[in-house]
Amino acid sequence: MRYLSAALLALSLTAVSAQDVNSSQNGVLATGTMGSTNPPSPTMKAGDAGSNARLLSVNSIDDFCIFGPKEANKTIGDTEGEQVAWCTQPRNDARLIPDGTFTGVHFITTPFYVQVVGWGDLTKIGLQDADYGGELDPHGATGEGNPIGGNVTSNVSGTDENYAEWMEFISYEQFCLRVCTAGNDTWDAATMCEHKLDEMGCGFIMPGDYEQKDVFQSCDADAAYPPGMFSVAGDGDNSFSSFAQRYTGTLTQEGQQTVYTIGDTATPSSAQMTPSSSNCRTQSSLNAAQQPTPTSSNEGDEGSKGQSQDDDSAAATLQLVSAWSIAVIAVIAVLL
Ligand SMILES: *[C@@H]1O[C@H](CO)[C@@H](O)[C@H](O)[C@H]1NC(C)=O
Ligand SMILES: *[C@@H]1O[C@H](CO)[C@@H](O)[C@H](O)[C@H]1NC(C)=O
Ligand SMILES: *[C@@H]1O[C@H](CO)[C@@H](O)[C@H](O)[C@H]1NC(C)=O
Ligand SMILES: *[C@@H]1O[C@H](CO)[C@@H](O)[C@H](O)[C@H]1NC(C)=O
Ligand SMILES: *[C@@H]1O[C@H](CO)[C@@H](O)[C@H](O)[C@H]1NC(C)=O
Repeated sequence: MRYLSAALLALSLTAVSAQDVNSSQNGVLATGTMGSTNPPSPTMKAGDAGSNARLLSVNSIDDFCIFGPKEANKTIGDTEGEQVAWCTQPRNDARLIPDGTFTGVHFITTPFYVQVVGWGDLTKIGLQDADYGGELDPHGATGEGNPIGGNVTSNVSGTDENYAEWMEFISYEQFCLRVCTAGNDTWDAATMCEHKLDEMGCGFIMPGDYEQKDVFQSCDADAAYPPGMFSVAGDGDNSFSSFAQRYTGTLTQEGQQTVYTIGDTATPSSAQMTPSSSNCRTQSSLNAAQQPTPTSSNEGDEGSKGQSQDDDSAAATLQLVSAWSIAVIAVIAVLL
């Protein structure tokens, strides 16, 4: 049973009817200074191909940035601290993502966060071929973020805001990025952007539509449960169990090496549920900038390439997976 108690922590949460989120709750907005490589605020001005700017803006499917390599062909895992901003629009003094990099992008706006997931050939921005990549977040080894001095804004609230909590996973063929824009008394921003499960991959940490990899689509959506949290009754309230990533390390004590393991022995295969989405708009490609246009701040806003069309295919899907039953059984075992 030891592994179960290490693995699962049953939390009792009070069921409440109000689900109001608070975008000025402590921990939502960034209060510190802007990283030294960044412009003081988001700007519609591109940097050059060697820019070190590290300011992401995550505004819409046609206007977002991701952290990517500063130097090509080094693994992300070896260079997390030095990643730089790559943007679909000329902005933030940052590098421009080459047209055609992405084959599909999904952008969702939820009450708690905005999330963008994309597929394509990320070697075009310098990922090493076949590099399964790494995880980036505002904390890192030094507390100054991975990358160091990385910052993130969004204007989904109607105005540019600097957000304190975000996470990105990037590999040679996929990225996912979540920016936490609000919290409530149950889930704060740090919990909704909890990034420690860094070996679980995008689909587990940031549930969404991972089937349609060749579609460009924006949707409104409900928020998923925070990463690694499983609702015991499946209703999102009351009791949650959490999953801790398994980690094996070696400890040297008085000249003796001991191998130790923490975390779950049973790894859930996916998140408990994919939140339902609505108001989906599909377009044929990104209305991405082809050329830096530093003098025109409105360029690219109303591109004509993408066709919007209603798409109600993204209906509510509830995936109860095998992991779910593992979690339930384990929680019951702990409670007994
Ligand atoms: C916070 O939001 C979640 C998800 O909508 C909801 O289940 C929970 O009841 C809310 N908590 C409060 C205190 O409103
Ligand atoms: C939101 O959070 C802030 C900071 O904690 C607090 O002052 C404010 O009253 C909260 N607003 C609501 C509507 O709960
Ligand atoms: C920039 O990022 C650092 C490191 O995460 C953070 O402490 C600071 O508050 C951020 N500043 C802004 C303006 O977002
Ligand atoms: C990265 O490595 C690949 C494969 O070895 C090579 O084709 C490519 O030119 C390299 N890119 C750069 C920018 O060095
Ligand atoms: C966010 O910024 C973009 C420019 O990239 C602008 O077109 C859009 O209207 C802004 N959205 C809001 C809600 O202010």
